[in-house]
Amino acid sequence: MPQDNQPTGLENLLHETRTFPPSDAFAAQANAQPELYERAAADHLGFWAEQAKELVTWKTPFTQTLDWSDAPVARWFADGTLNAAYNAVDRHVVEGRGDRVALQFEGEPGDTRTVTYAELQREVSRAANVLSSLGVAKGDRVVIYLPMLVESVVAMLACARIGAPHSVVFGGFSADALRSRIADAEAKVVITSDGGYRRGSASALKPAVDEAIAPREGAPASSIEHVLVVRRTGQDVAWTPGRDIWWHEALEAADVQHTPVWVDAEHPLFILYTSGTTGKPKGILHTTGGYLTQAAYTHKYVFDLKADTDVYWCTADIGWVTGHTYVVYGPLVNGATQVIYEGTPDSPHQGRWWEIVEKYKVSILYTAPTAIRTCMKWGDEIPGKYDLTSLRVLGSVGEPINPEAWMWYRRVIGGDKAPIVDTWWQTETGAIMISPLPGVTATKPGSAQTPLPGIIADVVDDDANPVPDGGGGYLVLTQPWPAMLRGIWGDLERFKDTYWSRFKGIYFAGDGAKKDEDGDIWLLGRVDDVMNVSGHRLSTTEIESALVSHEMVAEAAVVGAADELTGQSVVAFVILRSSFAKDADPEAVQALLRNHVAKEIGPIAKPRRILVVSELPKTRSGKIMRRLLRDVAENRVVGDASTLADSSVMALISSGLAAPA
Ligand code: WT7
Repeated sequence: MPQDNQPTGLENLLHETRTFPPSDAFAAQANAQPELYERAAADHLGFWAEQAKELVTWKTPFTQTLDWSDAPVARWFADGTLNAAYNAVDRHVVEGRGDRVALQFEGEPGDTRTVTYAELQREVSRAANVLSSLGVAKGDRVVIYLPMLVESVVAMLACARIGAPHSVVFGGFSADALRSRIADAEAKVVITSDGGYRRGSASALKPAVDEAIAPREGAPASSIEHVLVVRRTGQDVAWTPGRDIWWHEALEAADVQHTPVWVDAEHPLFILYTSGTTGKPKGILHTTGGYLTQAAYTHKYVFDLKADTDVYWCTADIGWVTGHTYVVYGPLVNGATQVIYEGTPDSPHQGRWWEIVEKYKVSILYTAPTAIRTCMKWGDEIPGKYDLTSLRVLGSVGEPINPEAWMWYRRVIGGDKAPIVDTWWQTETGAIMISPLPGVTATKPGSAQTPLPGIIADVVDDDANPVPDGGGGYLVLTQPWPAMLRGIWGDLERFKDTYWSRFKGIYFAGDGAKKDEDGDIWLLGRVDDVMNVSGHRLSTTEIESALVSHEMVAEAAVVGAADELTGQSVVAFVILRSSFAKDADPEAVQALLRNHVAKEIGPIAKPRRILVVSELPKTRSGKIMRRLLRDVAENRVVGDASTLADSSVMALISSGLAAPA
């Protein structure tokens, strides 16, 4: 059991015994029936081929389901051809659903925009023509750096339409983070906006793009040839003529007709960077046919989607994989009507989300435990003011959900009735892997429970042996799945090394898990040097390198400390260079370094606390013992320090620290 790295604060998960069977009424109407498991178990590949044929429209039908001969790089449906944007948009128009609302946009200031599938088709076609006219061809990469706008969805689909893989960079990442992602993907075009509305005011975005592509001494010139700028806030922007182009002007001038570029099933659809255990983010590569199949399949069954009556809302930003699979591709391929919201849950008041649910009669809501806990803290009376009876399925994603938050979600938001699906997956898996099926599974507060039909997962010990029911270990995926990553952009070795070397030939997810007495899976958090803050993945090493890049810092160690609201929070221990150490004011050092991390990576990576210390606990081989630092960060008695090279270090650290902020 990988206790060394296990986040704390999840103890309650281990004592939870309540179950909530589906109601007969829900079960009777559910998309998922128990036979789905049987069908998948009887013929794994046949099952996926069936899903691919039923849920996705192919230009050329595939004849081959899986080619695993070049493992661990899978090829699914490889001889089929298709287009992701055609599947997400055009075919609904072709099949007579053009008047159905695809996107119900709600801006933070309260402006709204309703976009039907037919309108979406015109916008995406125009944007595809614009990209082509800028010289973007099949295979070229486009970086998207936008807030949550209709244009963000259009931009992603326009790339897909011409076979240009998109790389969406979360708008909260810094210019430096954007620069390294642009460089790694060698992107030709960036799509951004002047800004977006956040917490009641217009916040600028384009300056970060300008900075990210500006010439820098010692670095090669940026690969970016053009910047397409969406006008959202109307704020002033610096302009580079010839390079910068207004999105609205270009689209207005573009033709509404565009023929999708048909691509092979294994053609890259997108790259999405995520933090790993080293300092350098990994460009996770996803391809087209298998990804779309599993996106649509999971969206249909896990959320019980009835496309002609449901109103679906996933609160994730398109900058994360959840926004890719469950805002853009899954729902649109399934022809859903969905809400997208630009702002924060408390703008202009703490009832904004529930106001949106009432206004649009949202029936399926998919969000993160951290948001649920925040709303829980604000109090029952806030959601209590709104009519939430339209909600019939609730989803959770991003981190383990503690039973208290689960129960609150069920009672206060779901009216004690709506089934909750706790969905486990990762940027790498592309789509949901482990989740209850509403109408089939008797749910358990805090457990993702069961691999979906077609997915084979297990919990194993250090020697890759499955643990018995009641046991704990590492979560692994033992069979390839259609939406699996196809690699790390430009680094096949790192792909093999990161996911396939810990246990030979099987995929190691990086999570600790246990099986309960029924064999249900409970996720227990990361077992590697990856933190999970508000459902976002952050790397301890990445933040450490950001810290040591500051002239004041000699050494740094970062840990994730249990946090009631955000799951984990970033706590950093730093040793200052001696020239700075003497009269440094701890408050000032803390402020300076927090801002430095925000500049290097982005505000989400800012340490909650930075503690200046004179030593770090290291093993004789020089490895930092983060477990001991976590004890300090969580105000616990420091655990076994006997393997330290210098066992007095912990006393030194503990004694030198002021009371935690
Ligand atoms: C990591 C993946 C998948 C979209 C959001 C995050 C954790 C995710 C759950 C869950 C327990 C979860 C895992 C995983 N995680 N969902 N339902 N229960 N843990 O994507 O940034 O790729 O992070 O998030 O630790 O490995 P990501």
